Amino acid sequence: MQRPTPTDIEREVTAVDMIVSKGNEAGDITYANPIFFKISGYSQGELLDQPHSILRHPDMPKVIFKYLWDNLKAGKEVYAYVKNLCKDGSYYWVLAQVRVAKNPDGSFRNYVSTRRAVKPETKEKVGALYAKLLEIEKSQGVEAAEKALADWLAENGQSFETFNQFMQELNK
Ligand SMILES: Cc1cc2nc3c(=O)[nH]c(=O)nc-3n(C[C@H](O)[C@H](O)[C@H](O)COP(=O)(O)O)c2cc1C
Repeated sequence: MQRPTPTDIEREVTAVDMIVSKGNEAGDITYANPIFFKISGYSQGELLDQPHSILRHPDMPKVIFKYLWDNLKAGKEVYAYVKNLCKDGSYYWVLAQVRVAKNPDGSFRNYVSTRRAVKPETKEKVGALYAKLLEIEKSQGVEAAEKALADWLAENGQSFETFNQFMQELNK
């Protein structure tokens, strides 16, 4: 499928919206709730079995997804701000909680992402951070961006240990 050309049209996520999807071990979409289809503009047939990266917006720094996957693989949940790309090139911001769901016997069941609206001032703050991380990533690579993310956390009195809590606080 051809990737949509990003526009600066923003789709609204309201405070009551909860955008849910589930993925297999490779991150392919195995389930999505109706609002997920509605906001992204894709049909079920277009989304199911596709990688979650179908939503990847070019404004998103790689380091955020690296952090997401490093933690998921370690069995840890992640809260992260994500700017997603819709089929028509528009975008929407969410605060995503992504976690691993297990079967009763402890084996892997799926990954589950629950996405909520982001406050305008938080979008601005995180958008500025992501723009900086993206620039560093392009000129110096992902490791340098990871260091810049750690520095930003430290400037805010935080660390990767308090990352999830801090992301949630930023949206309060
Ligand atoms: C359950 C789950 C939900 C995800 N949701 C998103 C999402 O909403 N947007 C997104 O860009 N990536 C999402 N990802 C991450 C993608 O798998 C992928 O790492 C990311 O889009 C970067 O793509 P790339 O590694 O091909 O550059 C999700 C992953 C999982 C496991």
